Parts: sequence; structure tokens; C-alpha cells
Amino acid sequence: MIFIRNLNKIYNNTNVINNLDLQIEKGDFVFLHGKSGSGKSTLLKILTKEVRGWSGKITVDSQDLNKVATYNIRRKISVIYQSFELLQEKTVYENISLAGHVVGKTNKDIHNRTTLLIEKVGLKGKENLYPKNISGGEQQRVAVARALLNKPEIILADEPTGNLDTENAYHIIRLLKQLNEEGVTVLIVTHDLELVKSFPAKIIIMSEGKVKISENDHLLI
Ligand SMILES: Nc1ncnc2c1ncn2[C@@H]1O[C@H](COP(=O)(O)OP(=O)(O)OP(=O)(O)O)[C@@H](O)[C@H]1O
Ligand SMILES: [Mg+2]
Repeated sequence: MIFIRNLNKIYNNTNVINNLDLQIEKGDFVFLHGKSGSGKSTLLKILTKEVRGWSGKITVDSQDLNKVATYNIRRKISVIYQSFELLQEKTVYENISLAGHVVGKTNKDIHNRTTLLIEKVGLKGKENLYPKNISGGEQQRVAVARALLNKPEIILADEPTGNLDTENAYHIIRLLKQLNEEGVTVLIVTHDLELVKSFPAKIIIMSEGKVKISENDHLLI
């Protein structure tokens, strides 16, 4: 589904992505681990077309990434961030539903989907609260629901548990694992090796702009 060959990205005369080859299959559940500065976020931003000016070949569902409109990529690939990135002046409900208006869904469809997702992520009863009045774990669950609104095929999560305590971190990863079992392809960037060890996954270690891959175990750590 995502096919990357010979990817290079240069910042300040340094290859932060260095002849990287990687394939993410439909239905994969992947942890991307690696030292600070190893290029993890850059790789994610290349995939969502937030970062340009790279060389190599990337296809998403066999389409050349360079030829896919940003709008279409962002519908296919949703992103979750460490800092949640919620709109502070909008309620839980509004934060989740907003993405539906952007893509022109009917109000009824948006309402039904938002209600379903609020239940799925365990936020029933919190719909009308503002981000500052819910916990960090709950804020991240809002971000997960928001990411799901338009039924993406792929979720990229960049350190989604970086600001959470252990219990909430596991809750978020379990939620992402559940979505994966329902068919969403999930890639999670994390520094947290304990988390990585707790879930069966494909593990990708990034180092100096390249990757090593371990299937379904923890052999490379
Ligand atoms: N816009 C930019 N301009 C210049 N250099 C950049 C830019 N973005 C990232 N870099 C550099 O590219 C390298 C990789 O950064 P990246 O953010 O991808 O690392 P990372 O693996 O996500 O690190 P972390 O684990 O700390 O989030 C770093 O050395 C960083 O300083
Ligand atoms: Mg990063």
C-alpha cells in the first residue's frame, strides 16, 4: 500500500533520510522507533505531503505520491500528534465533527459518525466539554476520533503517547490496535520500548535515515 524506494531528504547538506527502502502493507500495525533526529517525523511528513523536496520513489496504493493531490492523500492518511492539536475554543464534539464539514458530508452523516466515534473512544458524556476541561488521555482519544471521522485507510501517529502516563498510553495504543483489527493500517512512532514490547507488531528501527525491520517480535531491540 505504501511503497518507498531509495528515498532521500536533505536538510542543510545532511541526508536526514538516506536511501530509505520501506514497504507498509494494507492492514499492518507498525511501530517506528529510533533516536531523536533519526528522521521519523520527516518520513511521516513526506507521506502526508507536508514536507517536499525529496528524491526517490513513493507510491500509495500504486499511485505516485507526487501525482496524488494533497487533498486525496489527507483523506487516505490521517495523522495523530503528541500534542493532540485540538482546537481549544471548540468542544469535544466540534473537534471531532469539524473534519466532516471540510469534506462536504451531510449534517446527518456527520452527526451519526461523530456520535459513533465518541462512543467508540469512550467519551460519551464529554461531548460538550472543552479540551482544557478533559484529561490528556481523553484529549488524545478526541484526536483519535477526529482522525477517524472520514474513514482513513491509514493512521500515522507521531509519538501519540509522548504526553501521557503509562495507563493512558496503553489505552491509546490498545485503541489503535483495535482500529487496526477493524482494517485500518496503523504506523506509530514511539520512543517507548515498553509499549513496543507489549504489542505484537512489525517493528521498524530508524537510524541515520535508514530502517531495519523486525516482524512480529522484538529481536532487533
Ligand atoms: N524543517 C527543517 N529544517 C532543517 N532541518 C530539519 C527540519 N526538520 C527536521 N530537520 C532535521 O532533520 C533531522 C530529522 O528530524 P526529525 O524531526 O525527522 O527527527 P525525529 O526522528 O522525528 O526526532 P524526534 O524523535 O526527536 O522527534 C533532525 O536532525 C532535524 O534537526
Ligand atoms: Mg519526531
